[in-house]
Amino acid sequence: MQSAKVINLRCEYLSNPLGIDVLQPRLSWQLDCPRRGARQTAYQIVAADSQKALEEARALIWDTGKILSDRSTHVPYEGPALHSAQRVWWRVRIWDEHDQPSPWSEPAWWEMGLLDRGEWRGRWIGAALSGGRWTSAPCPFLRKTFVVSQPVASARLYVTALGLYECYLNGHRVGDDVFTPGWTDYRKRVQYRVYDVTEMLRTGANALGAILGDGWYCGHVCWIGRQQYGDRPKLLAQLVINFADGSTHTVVSDESWKTAFGPILESDLLMGESYDARKELVGWDTPGYDDSQWQPVQCFADPGIALVATNGPTVRRFEELQPVADPVEIKEWPMSRWIFDFGQNMVGRVRLKVSGPGGTTITLRHGEMLDAEGKLYTANLRSARQTDHYTLRGEGEEVYEPRFTFHGFRYVEMSGYPGRPGRDALTGIVLHSDIPQTGTFECSDPLINQLQHNIVWGQKGNFLEVPTDCPQRDERLGWTGDAQIFIRTAAFNRDVAAFFTKWQQDLADAQFESGAIPPVAPNVAFFAEGPLRDGGPAWADAVVICPWTIYLCYGDTQLLERHYDSMARFVDYLVRSSAGLIRAHPDVDPWGGFGDWLSINAETPKDLIGTAFLAYSARLMGRIAAALGKTDDAQRYGQLFQDVRRAFIHRFVTADGLVFGGTQTAYVLALHFDLLPEELRPKAAQALVRDIVERKMHLSTGFVGASYLPFALTTAGRLDIAYELLLQKSWPSWLYPVTQGATTIWERWDGWTAEKGFQDPGMNSFNHYAFGSIGAWLYAVVAGIDVDPERPGYKHIILRPRPGGGLSHARATLDSLYGRIVSAWQQREGGFEWEVTVPANASATAYIPAAPQAVIREGDKPLEDAEGVALVQRTEDAAVCELEPGTYHFTVRL
Ligand code: BGC
Repeated sequence: MQSAKVINLRCEYLSNPLGIDVLQPRLSWQLDCPRRGARQTAYQIVAADSQKALEEARALIWDTGKILSDRSTHVPYEGPALHSAQRVWWRVRIWDEHDQPSPWSEPAWWEMGLLDRGEWRGRWIGAALSGGRWTSAPCPFLRKTFVVSQPVASARLYVTALGLYECYLNGHRVGDDVFTPGWTDYRKRVQYRVYDVTEMLRTGANALGAILGDGWYCGHVCWIGRQQYGDRPKLLAQLVINFADGSTHTVVSDESWKTAFGPILESDLLMGESYDARKELVGWDTPGYDDSQWQPVQCFADPGIALVATNGPTVRRFEELQPVADPVEIKEWPMSRWIFDFGQNMVGRVRLKVSGPGGTTITLRHGEMLDAEGKLYTANLRSARQTDHYTLRGEGEEVYEPRFTFHGFRYVEMSGYPGRPGRDALTGIVLHSDIPQTGTFECSDPLINQLQHNIVWGQKGNFLEVPTDCPQRDERLGWTGDAQIFIRTAAFNRDVAAFFTKWQQDLADAQFESGAIPPVAPNVAFFAEGPLRDGGPAWADAVVICPWTIYLCYGDTQLLERHYDSMARFVDYLVRSSAGLIRAHPDVDPWGGFGDWLSINAETPKDLIGTAFLAYSARLMGRIAAALGKTDDAQRYGQLFQDVRRAFIHRFVTADGLVFGGTQTAYVLALHFDLLPEELRPKAAQALVRDIVERKMHLSTGFVGASYLPFALTTAGRLDIAYELLLQKSWPSWLYPVTQGATTIWERWDGWTAEKGFQDPGMNSFNHYAFGSIGAWLYAVVAGIDVDPERPGYKHIILRPRPGGGLSHARATLDSLYGRIVSAWQQREGGFEWEVTVPANASATAYIPAAPQAVIREGDKPLEDAEGVALVQRTEDAAVCELEPGTYHFTVRL
């Protein structure tokens, strides 16, 4: 018999993380074993201070012994307390369902960062102030030389900045992260990174350098100008060199460093970068460079904020795109402009390749669309310039990619190019946070496949440091509503656990004393005063919905635990600020929130949305409390849910099942959040369907209603209507933008229409993931892969495809913490075929779509005889089975 292998060792969701500050990191692994029924019945973890000790099993710092448990995710480290810079090597073996031990896994490790603020010995340093509230500044270069006099055993660079940094050591870039240290509320915390630079040092003279950028700290943030957190960028660095003889040498940022401005005349996330290659400081990051003209750095007082490790993903370069056609010339006085089309609305920037006379300046403007005349459409960028300038050195081929900026674009307009540019003059560089792909969805309808493609690209482009609304105009904020609306879809497509773990801290940092949650996190000055301090219904509720969703999809209770107080304070605030449990009551809250944002001729009352979300947040709090074993709280929130539900019915529901406002969203919320008396549900569902039919099979929902609409219809037994809406091609619908050539999800249903052209440029993004929330329905209902809230994280999987809409096949895969889940079905002449995979150490309930009299086989056996399958019941439309791990091929014949 094949023995199981243990693979994919993870620590806090990451593979071999360097520099974390979680004191009891959680370990996860997977079983690689295709055998039916493959399960873990016990595990053993051993850990040591070195790989050698681990492999020789001596001087172990932690040995769990054989633990009888099927747990293979989030097992907390319970060895001796961890100390700064400690690297722990670990491996696992498991015993399977026959009590057979697996071989030991390959070794894995994690390494701790600096756990005590006192261990940072350097000072914050930077250059003289330049730039102002609305004027960008050049990027300072900083450097320091030092001597290494003995053989080096290991070396680590601990580094962060207020602003952005790129570090260089002896002429080479340290690491490949982009936009570090990322975006946090810099008045409270900043993240540092740890780099292994052992191989970059040399005996003798060495040079450590850094280039600083403005980033979110002092560059433009949304429409409110620069210097939101501070006036200029600052660096904090500490290079720790451990010599072979056991001694240590530390180089820190301090007054001995020198600084100069170089070729980067300005670099701003929203505005773009200007680079003059004639001003390059050639060799500035090498020891032999003559820095006699450089200035001493300035040292700054310690801001007294928390320095925290980067426990989540950083932004990196992921793909390169080539223009899909030769650039098109636009002849316009005073010079020609060239339009490059990358064929994909993307987020990142371009790399320019050019040769020409020194002093020539090339301008690159970025936009998502072209106007009717084929010119770059930039009106929707508002004040974000998204423009890069490059001035040539004039010495042969020059290659340039900006550093501290990103743009949202499909098209680039180039001007000033010497001669006629070829297609290869530009290459698109795709940037996003490192959220590994976990899901695929594909079906027989190419338009839906394009929709899925658009959802994925919307996610990639907007999961950049924080979940943003859009990547192009002067906004790019961590909008809470958008994030909560999309998170369920996000967690299918990509591994977003660590990403949202970090953002949940941003939410907690943004929370006001009162318990209120602002509409964006990290919060910005614009939302610090006035009624918009409260993000309002469906926006602020992200603080509860997001960690709950991460719990569902990854089984993470620690995130719930850590932020429980923050969530509880939020719900308390909602109760206190409501009027008799009516949230956003016009008597007490004239603003009432963003409503069902961007709905189509269907105004849902804000107090209805508010009260529905109060009920929903209370109910989720009850479930969260139960998951954490807080029985009293679970009961209390359960009661609160019932009370709010009663208030909702009293105010908004007639005895005949009509819901006030009468919009699709009003019905969807009432149905989906379980706010109606049981007997009125069918009537409400009927009214919902009536409205859809009256609109000739069109939706009218905005951000809030759209995500739940297909689920509410499915639960109400109107899968047919849900499919009709999905397949609707005329506006407003999910597929309308697809038929118009969209390559990402649009902010508005009518961002551009044949009749009206572009919508209001004041708010018209073509890369906004919110309406991409239909993705969750594609995975969970069309393909049929869903979580079981009782055994979350796909420990137990609900496999329940609901074919329809004339689709002849659909297939989804999901790389869960247990391994790959597959659900792939096909409608064939003779019946229905379904392939499913349940990963080892998980289990599933499968709903095989089949009429009561249909004959079902698994492989070549009748269902009843199939190994690993236990038939539980046959209902009107399904054979319900419990599945053990393994791959199954079901066929259904009438
Ligand atoms: C953003 C949204 C956000 C909204 C609030 C917009 O400007 O782009 O996506 O949720 O404001 O209603």
